Amino acid sequence: MTDPALAATTILIVDDDRAFRVATRTLLEDEGYSVMLATNGEEALAVLRVTPVDLVITDMMMEKMTGLVLLSRLREKLPEMPVIMVTGFGSIQTAVEAMRLGAADYVTKPHNTEELLIKIRKTLHARERDRELHQLRQELQSTYSYANIITRSPRMRDVLTQIRQVVDTDVTILVQGESGTGKELVARALHFNSMRKEAPFIATSCSALNETLLESELFGYEKGAFTGATAQRRGRFEEAHTGTLFLDEIGDISPGVQKKLLRVLQEKTFERVGGSTPITVETRVVVATNRNLEVMVREGDFREDLFYRLNVFPITLPPLRERLEDVPLLVESFLQKHGGLAGGRVRYVAPEAVSAMMQHPWKGNIRELENLVKRAIITCAGDTIVTVDLPEVQGREEEQSGVPGVPGDWTAPYKEYLGAVLRNAEERYLVRMLRQHHGNINQIARLMEVDRKTVYRKMADLGIVPGTYRE
Ligand SMILES: Nc1ncnc2c1ncn2[C@@H]1O[C@H](COP(=O)(O)OP(=O)(O)OP(=O)(O)O)[C@@H](O)[C@H]1O
Ligand SMILES: [Mg+2]
Repeated sequence: MTDPALAATTILIVDDDRAFRVATRTLLEDEGYSVMLATNGEEALAVLRVTPVDLVITDMMMEKMTGLVLLSRLREKLPEMPVIMVTGFGSIQTAVEAMRLGAADYVTKPHNTEELLIKIRKTLHARERDRELHQLRQELQSTYSYANIITRSPRMRDVLTQIRQVVDTDVTILVQGESGTGKELVARALHFNSMRKEAPFIATSCSALNETLLESELFGYEKGAFTGATAQRRGRFEEAHTGTLFLDEIGDISPGVQKKLLRVLQEKTFERVGGSTPITVETRVVVATNRNLEVMVREGDFREDLFYRLNVFPITLPPLRERLEDVPLLVESFLQKHGGLAGGRVRYVAPEAVSAMMQHPWKGNIRELENLVKRAIITCAGDTIVTVDLPEVQGREEEQSGVPGVPGDWTAPYKEYLGAVLRNAEERYLVRMLRQHHGNINQIARLMEVDRKTVYRKMADLGIVPGTYRE
């Protein structure tokens, strides 16, 4: 059957042997290609000047201009044009030379028609792939112009618009989104595209430190404020003066730090730990969280007044599964970013692999995709990533973490993996408790040997609603 798409494909046959031209033309037209003919190299170049051609098949032995000369002329004038060389039987040397000069392939004469057709298809296919790649690269280039945020999805375009709207204001920004959706990237974009870009960008994760440490980290301390405070130390707020302070995992801060933070946001002043002199800073604050602050406010775990201070301009990043159209662009960009892992050898991703990736739920979002591409580059044998190691969706959770019953991506970096596994284990544990004890928090708290408030807080963090387990 003739493929209608082939009608658009034009092949130029160059040979001084009429019988070959006619036979090949019939063969190719029967396959649905449109065919042009030239009897020598000059004629071929003349045709190519005026007609769009997709592939050239040229004989090697021709009077005046040999196939090799034509090939090198084409390399100069039309470097993208694929050429299949027809060489005389037994002249393997010339075939090698043709390939060295950039021929896409060669066939020996008298040739087997099936072989010629296969090589034509293969060559056209490769060219198509290069074209698509080229297009993706161009698209990437224009996207790169905004802060390394790669996207073609309309929802993310809205996010980019929001960033542009506030980039040069002092408004506090709240960036929300699941883990790995690019919250930190947005925070950096807000800084490095603003007038503050020459000033410091200071990032701190609020979850890694306990209350006391976080407080001194953010606000600094005076000499003698506590054992070990042998000298005065400036905090992150001071370091970020005139620049941007990025507070990651803001949902994890304790009530004490919440209170102090509220004051800085309202009055721009604070005191170092153990100090009494008010310090004033001029800092743009960007905070991020993958938790639902509104729920936390409702459950009494996050100050309402602080929430309103932070929520002036919320930016919400959609999860990757809701913008799967970004997958091909992101894959290509990660291929470029991490191609060095395999010495730049890996250049392509097979379409089947891309479509498999476009069906995946991506619980770890863009970070998961990036890790996957990195691994695929490292394990890839040739120049093309043919398959990607996507966990099965069914039963994938246990398989991924290696801990029965607990989801977590074991291919993620260690800390991230551990965090996810613990969180998920905690969630399973609490849900079991709630089921077993019909939502009786008093009883659960006793069994857990923690206070009721802790139980409520943990449940709120994990988005578990105890009421639904009550009888
Ligand atoms: N649109 C994007 N284009 C290119 N790279 C992206 C994009 N979004 C995220 N990334 C990349 O994905 C990785 C994760 O992004 P980032 O660290 O900003 O996520 P996050 O939301 O802060 O995650 P977490 O909640 O786990 O801290 C980074 O390597 C980042 O560069
Ligand atoms: Mg982050």
